[in-house]
Amino acid sequence: MNVDDIQGVILRGFRSYGTIRHFLFNITDVAAAQEFCGLLAPGSGAPVTVTPGTLWPAGEKPPYCLNVGISNTGLSKLIGGTNYEAVSDASYGLFTTFGAGAADPGIAKNVGDTAGTPSAPENWWKNSNWKLPAPPSTSLLDVLVTLYAPDAEAREIYSQKLLEMSACGLTPAFVLDCDPLDPPDSIHFGYVDGISQPKIAGYDNPKAGMFDDQPVPSYYFVIDPDPNGPAPYTAHPLLGNGCFGAFRVLHQDSTAFEAFLAKAGDDADLVASKMCGRWKDGTPVEVSPDKPDPSLSAGDIVNFNYLSASPNQVNPLPAPDFDTSGVRCPYASHTRRTNPRDDVKVKPYDPPFAEHRVMRRAFAYGPPFAKDPAADRGLAGLFMGANLQDQFVFLMQTWVQSGFYRVPYDASPNGSGIDPLFGPQPDQDSTDFSYLSNGEYKTIPGMTRFVRTDGGLFVFLPSITALGFLAKGSIPAS
Ligand code: HEM
Repeated sequence: MNVDDIQGVILRGFRSYGTIRHFLFNITDVAAAQEFCGLLAPGSGAPVTVTPGTLWPAGEKPPYCLNVGISNTGLSKLIGGTNYEAVSDASYGLFTTFGAGAADPGIAKNVGDTAGTPSAPENWWKNSNWKLPAPPSTSLLDVLVTLYAPDAEAREIYSQKLLEMSACGLTPAFVLDCDPLDPPDSIHFGYVDGISQPKIAGYDNPKAGMFDDQPVPSYYFVIDPDPNGPAPYTAHPLLGNGCFGAFRVLHQDSTAFEAFLAKAGDDADLVASKMCGRWKDGTPVEVSPDKPDPSLSAGDIVNFNYLSASPNQVNPLPAPDFDTSGVRCPYASHTRRTNPRDDVKVKPYDPPFAEHRVMRRAFAYGPPFAKDPAADRGLAGLFMGANLQDQFVFLMQTWVQSGFYRVPYDASPNGSGIDPLFGPQPDQDSTDFSYLSNGEYKTIPGMTRFVRTDGGLFVFLPSITALGFLAKGSIPAS
């Protein structure tokens, strides 16, 4: 794997840089925007450049990290319509979803951004983060640049440099800051996040112990355009070493979430753990169903299965039953839905689910709930994969939004089966959530929607080589 050519964000999270700014730019001058793409390439000598996947030596942490994504409209502007068609035609399966865009009504509906509901695309981008005089519209968003800095001061310094570099050809349309909460890896609703990620085969990540034992073939995250290669898609060479990402701005209704948990009284933490599949400190309920267990190692909290014990799994339920009926980790729980692991009843073949995994690079925005309950807050960032349709869209449509997923196997009275961290759509009835407490199922009624989509944009994260083509407005021969 040529890590020097791959954007670092695809291979590794920049979680130690907790102070983040997302810029969504509108291209106003194509030639200047092309020049900007060239400047972003590492080695260009520009004041800020994209961070490649190259591992930095110990003690030589860069002062900032940066990644760039290009939307369908942005790509068409940068390489021109004819070249765009050529890339699209040669990458048909990958471009169907990217080309239609996140605001396409059919795609939006599939991922839960249903027309007529508050999450619908016509309601996106409508807050003070919108910077253009034009009315908010996804079609004005051409380029996503995300800057990761160690603190707020550094974020200002590098933001200024970026804005000077982009000034001639790109205008900021939407700008959103993500700032660390306490503890630093946590998100609103109070959970630690960024724990379980796919382990990319062939990439020697220094934090390998934090990932699932079973590696996922690299072509699910780093596009392999080799027609004779193993990837289950065809891709134009421009896409090589790149990836696609769904950028999402997800508003979290902490007031409703906390009110729902409060109905559980002393069981509030237990209910929160069953809704997520993890206790708030990250302990998986499959491994420790009764309480958080801080003694678990980084490996223990990711290497577990639901239907048969993974190697070295701590405290598995005895075979042959294991957790087939969701007594420890409800089938509805967010993590069992978004990564069913070995749950072969979902899709019975090997390697399980590799083609539907997503790489998450999302962080909290907005102040802590306790500090300012009425403020806007949520989770923003990228959900990545080589194939948006089979990865992000499939996961949202089939595993998160499908209300009846897994219900036949669930021993609890979780009738709706809806992912409880999201809750039912506003056009659906409120629902109940059931959980096992001291061997007895209890039910909390009146679950409503806790997460609203406030923005969505599909982007292509080009390789460093591809940035050079974008700078020239050209494409490699296919
Ligand atoms: C505001 C919305 C969301 C919240 C509050 C949330 C919260 C969480 C939390 C607390 C975890 C457990 C920590 C971890 O394993 O890293 C988690 C895991 C996960 N989430 Fe979300 N999430 C949200 C949106 C999404 C979306 C939109 C997707 C998919 C497109 C997603 C996919 C996943 C995946 C794949 C995992 C890892 C599951 C595993 O491997 O065990 N999440 N999420």
